[in-house]
Amino acid sequence: MYFDFSEEQLMIRQAARDFAQTELKPGVIERDEHQKFPAEQVKMMGELGFLGMMVSPQYGGSGMDAIAYVLVMEELSKIDASASVVVSVNNSLVCYGLEKYANEAQKQKYLVPLAKGEVIGAFCLSEPEAGSDATAQHTTAIDMGDHYLLNGVKNWITNGNSASTYIVMAQTDTAKRHNGINALIVEKGMEGFTIGAKENKMGIRGSDTHSLHFTDVKVPKENRIGEDGFGFKFAMTTLEGGRIGIAAQALGIASGAYELALNYAKERKAFGKSIADLQAIQFKLADMATEIEAARLLCLKAAWLKDNDQPYGKASAMAKVFASETAMKTTIEAVQIHGGYGFVKEYHVERLMRDAKITQIYEGTSEIQRIVISRDVLK
Ligand code: CAA
Repeated sequence: MYFDFSEEQLMIRQAARDFAQTELKPGVIERDEHQKFPAEQVKMMGELGFLGMMVSPQYGGSGMDAIAYVLVMEELSKIDASASVVVSVNNSLVCYGLEKYANEAQKQKYLVPLAKGEVIGAFCLSEPEAGSDATAQHTTAIDMGDHYLLNGVKNWITNGNSASTYIVMAQTDTAKRHNGINALIVEKGMEGFTIGAKENKMGIRGSDTHSLHFTDVKVPKENRIGEDGFGFKFAMTTLEGGRIGIAAQALGIASGAYELALNYAKERKAFGKSIADLQAIQFKLADMATEIEAARLLCLKAAWLKDNDQPYGKASAMAKVFASETAMKTTIEAVQIHGGYGFVKEYHVERLMRDAKITQIYEGTSEIQRIVISRDVLK
């Protein structure tokens, strides 16, 4: 594992850093307050190639590696995790799965516009009664010969209303349990597909989270990804990469809060000196810096394994559990260092603290990551 970044990786990191400062930062407080999806900024990220950054140029992507993805996710998430989650879901859960498992016709029709950022996608696994226990799918896709008849409800779907292309996991044969689940590509506008209410969330309030309702939606057979019954494995393998993205998002939230706290500590005067001169504050900053560095290394290790075609399920789970817990701890401390200012919106750290929490929940809770890790270490 190299510790140096290539020129290309450094350039994309700088591009993400500049974009975050100039385009994401100005309206981030308002978007959070009014739950406003960053549509304009997402369009720009598409133009910059961030939305399909790991897809090969042959299918409209930027052809970059997972290390570059971690760098971009960290930079965007320092400023706006509601925008960075769009990058993560589109790259990892939608484009990656399509590039790896879809057939050529599906790639041309769906992957190319997604990778170019002309449209965005959504990954639809969670249900009202199937969150951590993802095998318990109640949504059904009944085989009708030339199409599937899709019925059910999906919950907590990121990009729920903004997406055009939805990958929906549904049960075709209950007797086969998880081996009877299929992954279907569903288009917005298909008859019987309606979008439910937007969730009023604690954090990542700019992101567009909805329930989705499917009533007798006719999904052509040609929209199934992979062989019959491949849907659960499709979901599990794509989530392994998704967890690198969310780990890097958590890393960015942590490092964003740390940078704010560090600057504040140098500027803020108390007891006749800057608070950075107080050991109580110095120890907090030292712990934050150390944990962020460890989280960053775990993210990069998981990305490096993925880039080098080595198993990365355990590494991505480790990165996600550690980085998300670091994000939570660091943001709480960043609020504490800011004192009363940390409790008001203008100083950004309270938003980062609220945003941090979701990284311990989505794409598998911290408990799920520990299941994945412990199964691997005990095998
Ligand atoms: N890769 C490939 N196959 C896998 C796999 C992986 N990583 N993990 C499991 N499988 C396979 C198993 O080999 C097994 O197949 P066989 O029966 O053929 O051997 C099958 O899947 C079932 O596996 P398990 O028996 O291990 O299943 P389980 O019920 O014990 O569950 C779990 C495993 C890890 C807990 C899984 O259910 C899980 O990851 N749950 C969390 C789901 C999740 O992350 N949801 C997030 C929703 S998406 C989201 O949040 C996106 C967003 O909005 C940002």
